[in-house]
Amino acid sequence: MAAVVEPVRLDDAFMQDPHAVAEVFRREGPARPVVMPRGLRGWVVTGYHEARALLADPRLSKDAGRISELFETQVDHRDGEESPRTFASALTAHMLNSDPPEHTRLRKLVNKAFTPKSVERLRPRIEQITDALLDQMEAAGGEVDLLETFAFPLPITVICELLGVPEAERAAFRDWSNTLVSADPAAPIEQAAGELVTYLRELIERKRAEPGPDLLSDLVQVSEDGDRLAEHELVPMAFLLLVAGHETTVNLIGNGVLALLRDPEQLAALRADPALLPGAVEEFLRLDGPVNLATLRFTAEPVRVGEVEIGAGEFVLISLLAANRDPARFEDPAKLDVKRPAGGHLAFGHGIHYCVGAPLARAEAEIAIGRLLARFDGLALAGEPSRLRWRASTLMHGMEQLPVRLG
Ligand code: HEM
Repeated sequence: MAAVVEPVRLDDAFMQDPHAVAEVFRREGPARPVVMPRGLRGWVVTGYHEARALLADPRLSKDAGRISELFETQVDHRDGEESPRTFASALTAHMLNSDPPEHTRLRKLVNKAFTPKSVERLRPRIEQITDALLDQMEAAGGEVDLLETFAFPLPITVICELLGVPEAERAAFRDWSNTLVSADPAAPIEQAAGELVTYLRELIERKRAEPGPDLLSDLVQVSEDGDRLAEHELVPMAFLLLVAGHETTVNLIGNGVLALLRDPEQLAALRADPALLPGAVEEFLRLDGPVNLATLRFTAEPVRVGEVEIGAGEFVLISLLAANRDPARFEDPAKLDVKRPAGGHLAFGHGIHYCVGAPLARAEAEIAIGRLLARFDGLALAGEPSRLRWRASTLMHGMEQLPVRLG
Protein backbone atom coordinates (compact mmCIF):
# COMPACT_ATOMS: atom_id res chain seq x y z
CA MET A 1 0.00 0.00 0.00
CA ALA A 2 1.29 3.48 -0.84
CA ALA A 3 2.45 5.47 2.16
CA VAL A 4 0.14 8.29 3.23
CA VAL A 5 1.64 11.63 2.25
CA GLU A 6 1.10 14.39 4.75
CA PRO A 7 0.16 17.75 3.20
CA VAL A 8 3.06 20.19 3.12
CA ARG A 9 2.40 22.93 5.61
CA LEU A 10 3.31 26.29 4.14
CA ASP A 11 3.40 27.67 7.66
CA ASP A 12 5.78 30.01 9.43
CA ALA A 13 8.27 27.20 10.11
CA PHE A 14 8.44 26.51 6.36
CA MET A 15 8.79 30.19 5.46
CA GLN A 16 11.55 30.71 8.03
CA ASP A 17 13.53 27.71 6.80
CA PRO A 18 12.43 26.13 3.50
CA HIS A 19 15.87 24.54 3.23
CA ALA A 20 15.17 22.35 6.26
CA VAL A 21 11.96 21.07 4.63
CA ALA A 22 13.86 20.45 1.39
CA GLU A 23 16.47 18.42 3.29
CA VAL A 24 13.76 16.18 4.73
CA PHE A 25 12.34 15.65 1.22
CA ARG A 26 15.78 14.99 -0.23
CA ARG A 27 16.29 12.05 2.09
CA GLU A 28 13.41 10.36 0.28
CA GLY A 29 15.09 10.66 -3.10
CA PRO A 30 15.35 13.30 -5.84
CA ALA A 31 11.55 13.31 -6.37
CA ARG A 32 8.77 12.43 -3.95
CA PRO A 33 4.98 12.78 -3.84
CA VAL A 34 3.61 15.95 -2.33
CA VAL A 35 0.20 17.21 -1.25
CA MET A 36 -0.18 20.96 -1.34
CA PRO A 37 -2.33 22.82 1.19
CA ARG A 38 -5.38 23.04 -1.08
CA GLY A 39 -5.32 19.29 -1.55
CA LEU A 40 -3.50 19.47 -4.85
CA ARG A 41 -1.48 16.30 -5.32
CA GLY A 42 1.75 16.09 -7.25
CA TRP A 43 5.49 15.63 -7.01
CA VAL A 44 8.32 17.73 -5.70
CA VAL A 45 11.78 17.48 -7.23
CA THR A 46 14.74 18.34 -5.01
CA GLY A 47 17.67 16.71 -6.88
CA TYR A 48 19.87 19.09 -8.89
CA HIS A 49 20.53 16.83 -11.88
CA GLU A 50 16.90 15.72 -12.03
CA ALA A 51 15.59 19.30 -11.74
CA ARG A 52 17.89 20.52 -14.49
CA ALA A 53 16.90 17.67 -16.80
CA LEU A 54 13.17 18.18 -16.16
CA LEU A 55 13.35 21.95 -16.77
CA ALA A 56 14.62 21.22 -20.28
CA ASP A 57 12.31 18.25 -20.92
CA PRO A 58 9.60 18.89 -23.54
CA ARG A 59 7.44 16.19 -21.92
CA LEU A 60 6.82 18.70 -19.14
CA SER A 61 4.31 21.37 -19.98
CA LYS A 62 3.14 24.61 -18.44
CA ASP A 63 -0.43 23.61 -19.35
CA ALA A 64 -1.76 27.15 -19.25
CA GLY A 65 -5.32 26.02 -18.52
CA ARG A 66 -4.34 24.07 -15.41
CA ILE A 67 -1.94 26.73 -14.19
CA SER A 68 -4.65 29.38 -14.38
CA GLU A 69 -6.98 26.98 -12.49
CA LEU A 70 -4.33 26.80 -9.76
CA PHE A 71 -4.35 30.57 -9.43
CA GLU A 72 -8.12 30.77 -9.70
CA THR A 73 -8.60 28.49 -6.71
CA GLN A 74 -6.82 31.16 -4.72
CA VAL A 75 -9.59 33.67 -5.30
CA ASP A 76 -13.27 33.24 -4.52
CA HIS A 77 -15.56 33.00 -7.46
CA ARG A 78 -18.21 35.69 -7.65
CA ASP A 79 -20.83 35.97 -10.36
CA GLY A 80 -20.75 39.01 -12.50
CA GLU A 81 -19.45 40.27 -15.73
CA GLU A 82 -15.81 40.30 -14.74
CA SER A 83 -15.40 37.92 -11.85
CA PRO A 84 -12.16 37.61 -9.90
CA ARG A 85 -11.55 34.42 -11.92
CA THR A 86 -11.49 36.42 -15.10
CA PHE A 87 -9.04 38.81 -13.52
CA ALA A 88 -6.76 36.02 -12.37
CA SER A 89 -6.59 34.49 -15.87
CA ALA A 90 -6.24 37.91 -17.43
CA LEU A 91 -2.97 38.25 -15.51
CA THR A 92 -1.59 34.71 -15.57
CA ALA A 93 -1.90 33.97 -19.31
CA HIS A 94 1.69 35.04 -20.03
CA MET A 95 4.76 33.44 -21.58
CA LEU A 96 5.97 31.89 -18.33
CA ASN A 97 2.72 29.92 -18.27
CA SER A 98 2.70 28.89 -21.91
CA ASP A 99 4.25 26.21 -24.10
CA PRO A 100 5.65 26.43 -27.63
CA PRO A 101 4.62 27.65 -30.13
CA GLU A 102 2.89 30.50 -28.17
CA HIS A 103 5.82 30.69 -25.78
CA THR A 104 8.36 31.01 -28.60
CA ARG A 105 6.37 33.81 -30.21
CA LEU A 106 5.81 35.82 -27.01
CA ARG A 107 9.38 35.47 -25.86
CA LYS A 108 10.79 36.61 -29.20
CA LEU A 109 8.90 39.88 -28.80
CA VAL A 110 10.70 40.86 -25.58
CA ASN A 111 14.03 39.07 -25.89
CA LYS A 112 15.75 41.97 -27.58
CA ALA A 113 15.04 44.38 -24.74
CA PHE A 114 16.94 42.21 -22.23
CA THR A 115 20.01 40.96 -24.08
CA PRO A 116 23.35 41.64 -22.33
CA LYS A 117 23.94 44.34 -24.96
CA SER A 118 20.64 46.14 -24.24
CA VAL A 119 21.31 45.87 -20.51
CA GLU A 120 24.80 47.31 -20.99
CA ARG A 121 23.13 50.47 -22.29
CA LEU A 122 21.08 50.71 -19.06
CA ARG A 123 24.17 50.49 -16.85
CA PRO A 124 24.86 54.25 -16.49
CA ARG A 125 21.23 54.87 -15.49
CA ILE A 126 21.27 51.97 -12.98
CA GLU A 127 24.46 53.43 -11.49
CA GLN A 128 22.86 56.86 -11.26
CA ILE A 129 19.75 55.54 -9.47
CA THR A 130 21.96 53.48 -7.12
CA ASP A 131 24.16 56.46 -6.24
CA ALA A 132 21.16 58.69 -5.61
CA LEU A 133 19.73 56.11 -3.18
CA LEU A 134 23.11 55.75 -1.45
CA ASP A 135 23.36 59.56 -1.13
CA GLN A 136 19.97 59.66 0.59
CA MET A 137 20.98 56.85 2.95
CA GLU A 138 24.27 58.53 3.77
CA ALA A 139 22.53 61.84 4.50
CA ALA A 140 20.07 60.09 6.87
CA GLY A 141 22.87 58.01 8.46
CA GLY A 142 22.52 55.66 11.42
CA GLU A 143 20.32 52.59 11.09
CA VAL A 144 18.08 51.82 8.12
CA ASP A 145 15.99 49.00 6.71
CA LEU A 146 18.12 48.19 3.68
CA LEU A 147 15.18 46.64 1.82
CA GLU A 148 12.98 49.69 2.20
CA THR A 149 15.65 52.28 1.49
CA PHE A 150 17.71 50.51 -1.15
CA ALA A 151 16.94 46.98 -2.36
CA PHE A 152 13.24 47.70 -3.14
CA PRO A 153 13.43 51.10 -4.83
CA LEU A 154 16.32 50.27 -7.16
CA PRO A 155 14.83 47.46 -9.30
CA ILE A 156 11.36 49.04 -9.15
CA THR A 157 12.65 52.31 -10.52
CA VAL A 158 14.60 50.51 -13.24
CA ILE A 159 11.73 48.29 -14.45
CA CYS A 160 9.16 51.09 -14.23
CA GLU A 161 11.37 53.43 -16.25
CA LEU A 162 12.05 50.66 -18.75
CA LEU A 163 8.36 49.91 -19.23
CA GLY A 164 7.18 53.50 -18.93
CA VAL A 165 5.16 53.45 -15.69
CA PRO A 166 4.88 57.11 -14.55
CA GLU A 167 6.48 57.85 -11.20
CA ALA A 168 3.27 58.92 -9.47
CA GLU A 169 1.67 55.53 -10.22
CA ARG A 170 4.48 53.33 -8.92
CA ALA A 171 3.45 53.19 -5.26
CA ALA A 172 0.04 51.73 -6.15
CA PHE A 173 1.72 49.18 -8.38
CA ARG A 174 3.99 48.09 -5.58
CA ASP A 175 1.03 47.50 -3.25
CA TRP A 176 -0.83 45.36 -5.82
CA SER A 177 2.27 43.37 -6.59
CA ASN A 178 2.95 42.74 -2.90
CA THR A 179 -0.59 41.56 -2.28
CA LEU A 180 -0.50 39.18 -5.23
CA VAL A 181 2.59 37.27 -4.03
CA SER A 182 1.48 37.17 -0.40
CA ALA A 183 0.78 33.82 1.28
CA ASP A 184 -1.66 35.42 3.72
CA PRO A 185 -5.13 33.94 3.07
CA ALA A 186 -6.63 37.24 4.24
CA ALA A 187 -4.72 39.27 1.63
CA PRO A 188 -7.19 41.03 -0.70
CA ILE A 189 -5.89 39.17 -3.76
CA GLU A 190 -9.03 39.44 -5.88
CA GLN A 191 -9.35 43.16 -5.31
CA ALA A 192 -5.66 43.75 -6.11
CA ALA A 193 -5.89 41.63 -9.28
CA GLY A 194 -8.99 43.50 -10.41
CA GLU A 195 -7.50 46.93 -9.82
CA LEU A 196 -4.27 45.92 -11.50
CA VAL A 197 -5.96 44.63 -14.65
CA THR A 198 -7.96 47.86 -14.91
CA TYR A 199 -4.80 49.90 -14.38
CA LEU A 200 -2.76 47.99 -16.96
CA ARG A 201 -5.51 48.21 -19.59
CA GLU A 202 -5.69 51.92 -19.07
CA LEU A 203 -1.88 52.32 -19.18
CA ILE A 204 -1.72 50.36 -22.45
CA GLU A 205 -4.42 52.60 -23.91
CA ARG A 206 -2.34 55.65 -22.98
CA LYS A 207 0.74 54.12 -24.67
CA ARG A 208 -1.29 53.44 -27.78
CA ALA A 209 -2.55 57.03 -27.90
CA GLU A 210 0.76 58.62 -26.97
CA PRO A 211 3.73 56.30 -27.43
CA GLY A 212 6.84 57.14 -25.40
CA PRO A 213 10.45 55.92 -25.51
CA ASP A 214 9.65 52.84 -23.41
CA LEU A 215 9.25 49.08 -23.77
CA LEU A 216 5.48 49.05 -23.23
CA SER A 217 4.97 51.55 -26.07
CA ASP A 218 7.22 49.34 -28.21
CA LEU A 219 5.22 46.25 -27.28
CA VAL A 220 1.97 47.95 -28.19
CA GLN A 221 3.38 48.65 -31.65
CA VAL A 222 5.91 45.86 -32.19
CA SER A 223 5.88 43.61 -34.98
CA GLU A 224 8.38 40.84 -35.11
CA ASP A 225 8.09 39.34 -38.59
CA GLY A 226 4.78 41.17 -38.85
CA ASP A 227 3.57 39.69 -35.56
CA ARG A 228 1.59 41.79 -33.10
CA LEU A 229 0.48 41.36 -29.52
CA ALA A 230 -3.26 41.35 -28.91
CA GLU A 231 -4.75 43.26 -25.97
CA HIS A 232 -5.35 40.02 -24.04
CA GLU A 233 -1.63 39.23 -24.44
CA LEU A 234 -0.34 42.69 -23.60
CA VAL A 235 -1.88 42.88 -20.12
CA PRO A 236 -0.29 39.63 -18.84
CA MET A 237 3.01 40.47 -20.55
CA ALA A 238 3.18 43.86 -18.81
CA PHE A 239 2.13 42.19 -15.56
CA LEU A 240 4.83 39.50 -15.80
CA LEU A 241 7.62 41.95 -16.56
CA LEU A 242 6.58 44.39 -13.85
CA VAL A 243 6.08 41.78 -11.14
CA ALA A 244 9.32 39.96 -12.06
CA GLY A 245 11.07 43.33 -11.95
CA HIS A 246 9.52 44.17 -8.56
CA GLU A 247 9.66 41.00 -6.56
CA THR A 248 12.84 39.16 -7.47
CA THR A 249 15.94 41.37 -7.73
CA VAL A 250 15.09 43.01 -4.41
CA ASN A 251 15.59 39.61 -2.80
CA LEU A 252 18.79 38.90 -4.67
CA ILE A 253 20.22 42.12 -3.24
CA GLY A 254 18.69 41.57 0.22
CA ASN A 255 19.59 37.87 0.54
CA GLY A 256 23.08 38.53 -0.82
CA VAL A 257 23.83 41.35 1.61
CA LEU A 258 22.42 39.31 4.50
CA ALA A 259 24.64 36.32 3.62
CA LEU A 260 27.69 38.59 3.50
CA LEU A 261 26.97 40.41 6.75
CA ARG A 262 26.54 37.07 8.49
CA ASP A 263 29.92 35.88 7.26
CA PRO A 264 32.67 38.43 8.03
CA GLU A 265 35.36 36.29 6.39
CA GLN A 266 33.52 36.18 3.06
CA LEU A 267 32.68 39.86 3.33
CA ALA A 268 36.36 40.68 3.89
CA ALA A 269 37.39 38.52 0.91
CA LEU A 270 34.96 40.38 -1.36
CA ARG A 271 35.99 43.78 -0.03
CA ALA A 272 39.64 42.89 -0.62
CA ASP A 273 39.02 41.89 -4.24
CA PRO A 274 36.00 43.54 -5.91
CA ALA A 275 36.75 41.52 -9.07
CA LEU A 276 35.10 38.63 -7.20
CA LEU A 277 31.75 40.44 -7.38
CA PRO A 278 30.19 38.79 -10.47
CA GLY A 279 31.04 35.34 -9.06
CA ALA A 280 29.73 36.38 -5.63
CA VAL A 281 26.38 37.37 -7.19
CA GLU A 282 26.14 33.89 -8.74
CA GLU A 283 26.88 32.44 -5.31
CA PHE A 284 24.11 34.53 -3.69
CA LEU A 285 21.73 33.23 -6.35
CA ARG A 286 22.76 29.65 -5.59
CA LEU A 287 22.74 29.92 -1.81
CA ASP A 288 19.41 31.70 -1.31
CA GLY A 289 17.80 32.49 -4.64
CA PRO A 290 14.79 34.84 -4.71
CA VAL A 291 12.29 32.20 -5.92
CA ASN A 292 10.57 30.04 -3.30
CA LEU A 293 8.12 27.49 -4.72
CA ALA A 294 7.37 29.03 -8.06
CA THR A 295 8.51 26.58 -10.72
CA LEU A 296 5.46 24.61 -11.71
CA ARG A 297 5.00 22.12 -14.55
CA PHE A 298 2.61 19.35 -15.59
CA THR A 299 3.67 16.09 -17.23
CA ALA A 300 2.29 15.83 -20.75
CA GLU A 301 3.67 12.27 -20.90
CA PRO A 302 4.92 9.85 -18.26
CA VAL A 303 8.47 10.54 -17.05
CA ARG A 304 10.83 8.61 -14.85
CA VAL A 305 12.76 10.54 -12.18
CA GLY A 306 15.29 8.40 -10.33
CA GLU A 307 13.30 5.52 -8.92
CA VAL A 308 9.88 7.05 -9.40
CA GLU A 309 7.57 6.88 -12.37
CA ILE A 310 5.43 9.99 -12.77
CA GLY A 311 2.32 9.44 -14.86
CA ALA A 312 0.90 11.79 -17.50
CA GLY A 313 -1.08 14.84 -16.35
CA GLU A 314 0.65 15.10 -12.97
CA PHE A 315 1.59 18.31 -11.22
CA VAL A 316 5.36 18.74 -10.72
CA LEU A 317 6.97 21.33 -8.48
CA ILE A 318 10.65 21.74 -9.32
CA SER A 319 12.39 23.23 -6.30
CA LEU A 320 15.22 25.48 -7.46
CA LEU A 321 15.98 26.31 -3.86
CA ALA A 322 16.55 22.62 -3.05
CA ALA A 323 18.41 21.85 -6.30
CA ASN A 324 20.85 24.68 -5.60
CA ARG A 325 21.82 23.08 -2.30
CA ASP A 326 22.03 19.51 -3.52
CA PRO A 327 25.26 18.00 -2.12
CA ALA A 328 25.39 15.75 -5.21
CA ARG A 329 26.23 18.90 -7.21
CA PHE A 330 27.64 21.48 -4.78
CA GLU A 331 30.24 20.78 -2.15
CA ASP A 332 29.33 22.06 1.32
CA PRO A 333 26.15 23.55 -0.19
CA ALA A 334 24.94 25.60 2.79
CA LYS A 335 28.25 27.50 2.94
CA LEU A 336 28.63 30.90 1.29
CA ASP A 337 31.81 30.84 -0.79
CA VAL A 338 32.33 33.91 -2.96
CA LYS A 339 35.22 32.12 -4.68
CA ARG A 340 33.16 29.04 -5.59
CA PRO A 341 33.51 28.27 -9.31
CA ALA A 342 30.57 30.22 -10.76
CA GLY A 343 27.86 28.73 -12.87
CA GLY A 344 25.54 25.82 -12.79
CA HIS A 345 22.96 27.10 -10.31
CA LEU A 346 19.32 26.96 -11.31
CA ALA A 347 18.12 30.19 -9.67
CA PHE A 348 17.10 31.60 -13.07
CA GLY A 349 15.62 28.28 -14.18
CA HIS A 350 16.85 26.39 -17.23
CA GLY A 351 15.62 25.50 -20.70
CA ILE A 352 13.13 27.53 -22.74
CA HIS A 353 11.75 29.48 -19.77
CA TYR A 354 15.21 30.50 -18.52
CA CYS A 355 14.76 33.96 -17.01
CA VAL A 356 14.62 36.60 -19.69
CA GLY A 357 15.57 39.26 -17.13
CA ALA A 358 18.74 37.48 -15.91
CA PRO A 359 21.21 39.95 -17.51
CA LEU A 360 19.29 42.88 -15.99
CA ALA A 361 19.05 41.25 -12.54
CA ARG A 362 22.78 40.44 -12.57
CA ALA A 363 23.73 43.98 -13.59
CA GLU A 364 21.49 45.51 -10.91
CA ALA A 365 22.84 43.24 -8.17
CA GLU A 366 26.47 43.80 -9.12
CA ILE A 367 26.05 47.56 -9.23
CA ALA A 368 23.96 47.71 -6.06
CA ILE A 369 26.06 45.44 -3.85
CA GLY A 370 29.40 46.71 -5.23
CA ARG A 371 28.54 50.36 -4.64
CA LEU A 372 26.90 49.71 -1.27
CA LEU A 373 30.06 48.03 0.06
CA ALA A 374 32.29 50.71 -1.43
CA ARG A 375 30.23 53.50 0.16
CA PHE A 376 29.84 52.07 3.68
CA ASP A 377 32.92 50.28 4.92
CA GLY A 378 31.44 49.68 8.37
CA LEU A 379 28.14 48.20 7.09
CA ALA A 380 26.77 45.71 9.66
CA LEU A 381 23.54 44.04 10.72
CA ALA A 382 21.61 46.03 13.33
CA GLY A 383 18.98 45.22 15.91
CA GLU A 384 17.90 41.91 17.32
CA PRO A 385 18.48 38.80 15.17
CA SER A 386 14.76 38.02 15.79
CA ARG A 387 13.94 40.96 13.51
CA LEU A 388 15.48 39.02 10.63
CA ARG A 389 12.42 37.16 9.43
CA TRP A 390 11.65 35.69 5.99
CA ARG A 391 8.52 36.96 4.31
CA ALA A 392 5.45 34.74 4.16
CA SER A 393 5.26 34.14 0.42
CA THR A 394 5.05 30.88 -1.49
CA LEU A 395 6.51 32.54 -4.56
CA MET A 396 9.31 34.66 -3.20
CA HIS A 397 12.14 33.93 -0.78
CA GLY A 398 13.19 37.19 0.82
CA MET A 399 13.34 39.03 4.12
CA GLU A 400 10.57 41.10 5.70
CA GLN A 401 13.16 43.73 6.55
CA LEU A 402 16.94 44.02 6.73
CA PRO A 403 18.00 46.42 9.49
CA VAL A 404 21.60 47.56 9.03
CA ARG A 405 23.97 50.08 10.57
CA LEU A 406 25.66 52.13 7.91
CA GLY A 407 28.81 52.73 9.96
C1 HEM B 1 11.46 33.50 -15.81
C2 HEM B 1 14.01 33.89 -11.73
C3 HEM B 1 14.55 38.67 -12.45
C4 HEM B 1 11.51 38.35 -16.17
C5 HEM B 1 12.13 33.20 -14.66
C6 HEM B 1 12.30 31.86 -14.14
C7 HEM B 1 13.01 31.98 -12.99
C8 HEM B 1 13.29 33.38 -12.78
C9 HEM B 1 13.42 30.86 -12.06
C10 HEM B 1 11.80 30.55 -14.77
C11 HEM B 1 10.63 29.97 -14.03
C12 HEM B 1 10.17 28.66 -14.61
O1 HEM B 1 10.88 28.02 -15.40
O2 HEM B 1 9.07 28.21 -14.24
C13 HEM B 1 14.38 35.22 -11.60
C14 HEM B 1 15.28 35.70 -10.57
C15 HEM B 1 15.44 37.05 -10.79
C16 HEM B 1 14.64 37.40 -11.93
C17 HEM B 1 15.92 34.84 -9.50
C18 HEM B 1 16.25 38.07 -10.03
C19 HEM B 1 17.31 37.80 -9.38
C20 HEM B 1 13.78 39.00 -13.52
C21 HEM B 1 13.63 40.34 -14.05
C22 HEM B 1 12.75 40.24 -15.07
C23 HEM B 1 12.37 38.84 -15.23
C24 HEM B 1 14.35 41.59 -13.53
C25 HEM B 1 12.18 41.31 -15.96
C26 HEM B 1 12.68 42.20 -16.52
C27 HEM B 1 11.25 37.01 -16.36
C28 HEM B 1 10.37 36.53 -17.42
C29 HEM B 1 10.36 35.13 -17.33
C30 HEM B 1 11.21 34.80 -16.20
C31 HEM B 1 9.65 37.38 -18.44
C32 HEM B 1 9.60 34.15 -18.21
C33 HEM B 1 10.50 33.63 -19.28
C34 HEM B 1 9.85 32.59 -20.14
O3 HEM B 1 8.81 32.04 -19.79
O4 HEM B 1 10.42 32.31 -21.20
N1 HEM B 1 12.75 34.11 -13.82
N2 HEM B 1 14.01 36.25 -12.39
N3 HEM B 1 13.02 38.14 -14.25
N4 HEM B 1 11.73 35.95 -15.65
FE1 HEM B 1 12.96 36.12 -14.10
